Amino acid sequence: MCGIAGYIGKNQANEFLLSALKKLEYRGYDSAGMTILDSDGSLGYVRSVGKICDLEKKMRNEKKITGFVGIAHTRWATHGCPSEKNTHPHHDCKKDIFIVHNGIIENYKSLKKSLEKSGHKFESETDTEIIAHLIESHFDGNLQQAVFNCLRHIEGAYAIAVVSKSDPDKIIVAKKGSPLVIGVGDGEYFVASDASALVGYTDRVIYLDDDEMGIIEKDKYKIVSTTNNNQIHKEHCKIDSNVCEIQKCGHEFFLLKEIFEGPEVVENSIRGRIISEKGLTKLGGLEVIDQDKLRNINRIIIIACGTANYAGMIGEYMLEEYAGIPVEVEIGSEFRYRKPIIDEKTAVLVVSQSGETADTIASLQEAKRKGALSLGIVNTVGSTIARETDAGVYNHAGPEISVASTKALMSQITVLALLTVYIGRSREMSLVTGKRITDELKKIPKLMNQVLDTNEDIKRIAQKYSKYRNFLYLGRKYNYPIACEGALKLKEVAYKIHAEGYAGGEMKHGPIAMIDENFPCFFIAPSDSVYEKMWSNMEEVKARNGKIIAIATEGNEDIKDLADDVIYIPKTLEMLTPILTAIPLHLFAAYMGIEFGFDVDKPRNLAKSVTVE
Ligand code: G6P
Repeated sequence: MCGIAGYIGKNQANEFLLSALKKLEYRGYDSAGMTILDSDGSLGYVRSVGKICDLEKKMRNEKKITGFVGIAHTRWATHGCPSEKNTHPHHDCKKDIFIVHNGIIENYKSLKKSLEKSGHKFESETDTEIIAHLIESHFDGNLQQAVFNCLRHIEGAYAIAVVSKSDPDKIIVAKKGSPLVIGVGDGEYFVASDASALVGYTDRVIYLDDDEMGIIEKDKYKIVSTTNNNQIHKEHCKIDSNVCEIQKCGHEFFLLKEIFEGPEVVENSIRGRIISEKGLTKLGGLEVIDQDKLRNINRIIIIACGTANYAGMIGEYMLEEYAGIPVEVEIGSEFRYRKPIIDEKTAVLVVSQSGETADTIASLQEAKRKGALSLGIVNTVGSTIARETDAGVYNHAGPEISVASTKALMSQITVLALLTVYIGRSREMSLVTGKRITDELKKIPKLMNQVLDTNEDIKRIAQKYSKYRNFLYLGRKYNYPIACEGALKLKEVAYKIHAEGYAGGEMKHGPIAMIDENFPCFFIAPSDSVYEKMWSNMEEVKARNGKIIAIATEGNEDIKDLADDVIYIPKTLEMLTPILTAIPLHLFAAYMGIEFGFDVDKPRNLAKSVTVE
């Protein structure tokens, strides 16, 4: 994780660097720091434990640094606790070379030992610091050459930005496995871990690929290969995020803003992708692959982590039920170390909001190596997964800033429904079924708004249950993954509470032992094909004095006989109910976290883009 930024140009570097760190804060927020080179040859650096606002305060009150070249970092601790000495930027022995780094250097221990032997003194417990010393050991006045030589010794993942007092008018950046983008301005260049940090400064970007290094000066740059030093020509891309997308726009938290953006996100995800009269969907991103190859696929493996994995599980139910194709869902961190059986008739479908989750990327690469067709459902344009898959579909959900994913989930389920029709209609799905799904999808944003309108009731329910410390979430079939998602969201943003998501039918195999009057259960129980089974589970909990909060379909008054509190959702197709049932669970978790006084956008210990194993 961690976010890095850099600036070189005609303006004071600290202004962009602070702004970029704030936008990258979702990548890590336990400490932050900055190094700036001034035109008189001096160098200043500042580091602070805590969030970016703490760094900003320190820079305002205690340590002003100015200049036109700088690098900065926001940290999510991997090696060494969050402390000032472990905060980036890290430097060499002479405090001449400074570096910021996102990633993990796997062979840092052996490198550290040999650097120590040759006299280098280390101040931190980080893996990053060895890079500064390694560059120092290769440095003879030419920073580019020293970084190039240093990288040959490093194993692991990195995106780095380096400056030196002795070669001051440049920033050297390099990437392998962690993301890095260069923004092209007018007489200035920007560096960031992702393009959202550049919004408001430039819309022209260059995505660095693995094994590439950038040498950036005030008025020019070049990209070279880190394997042979040959120059590489790269085209600029345009990014189209607008500033409002990355502001809270009247909401107290991004988390709430993003939950309320759900209907608009689903609109954006389906826009231009439905051909109603034919019951078809049009997914331009998939048209680049040979359609016969897609038709011949006899198995799909969906790979994803966290919330995206729950979207994948819903996709499994949809694709098997409506497209008639066998699907398995895998967690990235497990898949990458298994011996997956894959052939040319297997498609892997990776689902990722950020497109940068390390375990998902590693799984994708492993599957590609074994000959699978690789497809992606990704939100972040130009991200590693978007670039590395054979073909894919963008979510168009806009930047998701809150660490806990909400609106991306809505879009992922929507795109999986579109994909189900896309694949299903080229197989056995009838026109009538295709039409039924697409017609219902178009109505979903309106139905989502109806659920969002009950937010005050949900807030009241969250306050009522805020004294409980354990929750069980139960669902079946399409809403089993949503039970897991509800529990995950509560753990993420209201972390005083422990919650478990379970398949309703599994309750009797364990969780039922915990049920008593102090153990509230969420039942995700819309009126669908498994409703009767959920009713039986509710009876079992009631018989043990458990508290019940139910999510039910409008018009179901009977449920009040068993449930202490009911949240209603409008009726829709069974496969689309997760989009509606997830909303109250997201709101419940958000309001619970807010009730506890937590920063629900940045819960402790978490990071949005998990770019480490
Ligand atoms: C982190 C985030 C989650 C997210 C997961 C997968 O854990 O906190 O909200 O679901 O990563 O991220 P991805 O970007 O691959 O969807």
